[in-house]
Amino acid sequence: MSEKPLLSVRGLTTEFTTPEGKIARALEDVSFDVMHGQTIGLVGESGSGKTTTLMSLMRLLPAGGRITAGRVMFNDTNLLSLTEREMRDYRWKSMAIVFQGAMNALNPVMKVGDQIHEAIMLHNLMDEDAAEKRVRDLLEMVGIARTRRDQYPHQYSGGMRQRAMIAMALACAPDLLFADEPTTALDVMIQAQVLQLLKEIQKALGLAIVLVTHDLGVVAEVCDSVVVMYGGKVAEYGTADHIYNEAQHPYTQKLLEAFPDVTKPGDTLASIPGTPPRLTNLPPGCRFEPRCHVKVAKCSQVNPPLLEVSPKHYVSCILREGAEADLR
Ligand SMILES: Nc1ncnc2c1ncn2[C@@H]1O[C@H](COP(=O)(O)OP(=O)(O)O)[C@@H](O)[C@H]1O
Ligand SMILES: [Mg+2]
Repeated sequence: MSEKPLLSVRGLTTEFTTPEGKIARALEDVSFDVMHGQTIGLVGESGSGKTTTLMSLMRLLPAGGRITAGRVMFNDTNLLSLTEREMRDYRWKSMAIVFQGAMNALNPVMKVGDQIHEAIMLHNLMDEDAAEKRVRDLLEMVGIARTRRDQYPHQYSGGMRQRAMIAMALACAPDLLFADEPTTALDVMIQAQVLQLLKEIQKALGLAIVLVTHDLGVVAEVCDSVVVMYGGKVAEYGTADHIYNEAQHPYTQKLLEAFPDVTKPGDTLASIPGTPPRLTNLPPGCRFEPRCHVKVAKCSQVNPPLLEVSPKHYVSCILREGAEADLR
């Protein structure tokens, strides 16, 4: 494993023009690294910009959305400077995504095995026989019995449909997998199985995973490092140990307080009083200031940058301790 990140995100800023013609700044100055073979968790309340981060990195933003600043280095290539055609070579082959709600996106009138087969043929220069062998290998990898190859999605359980979507994302053997809330719609036992599967796949393939979730328990179970997002910004970023044992951002601290048993998947982040900021009308200061329990007067005026408080531990709060260098 090299020390150089597989994916390095710096200053990523993404805006949407709303139907009313307003500008919503969905991401501002988002920075983090994904190391080879690592799982990094993106965690935050609904609306904090997790999906927008993944869609920006894949350059699959919906109409009205655009990246206005930043750099996304995949190995030595800045993905943001590629043409759309060049970018297509990276999608699925280098980085693939399991979309939010993907398990319900399977085609109901097509056999699951055929859908995976089609995904392989679409992106790979492979003949039919080789593709069919790959379908079998992928199904085996995600723990779906061969006899289920010719079944339809409705014959699968929710957990199996999610596994099938993971198999599809792995069709072109990517180095990096984005998984957007892959366990949210599943019940707790099945959630644990899908997480276990991701861990196994990662180990077997040496894959790096960016796991998006609003569930701190999921993050604690599988992530090497964690990006805590709030209102489209990175509130805190560090190793799992930094986040769980040395959290410095008041938002992270509140999240942890609200969920003392972070090893138990299934809890959500909805119980901090107040609501996230409106992205079309952002306050000049810190986005968390209205909900913050330790704020001072300056917090409503200064938009805090993400600063390194100890090696590989970054906090965006003017009250943090020992901040040194900017993550740039
Ligand atoms: N298609 C869109 N059009 C306009 N605004 C959007 C769109 N998608 C996302 N946003 C804005 O970005 C914010 C973050 O959304 P999202 O990334 O989906 O959050 P999360 O995945 O953390 O729940 C939303 O609250 C919304 O303001
Ligand atoms: Mg989302």
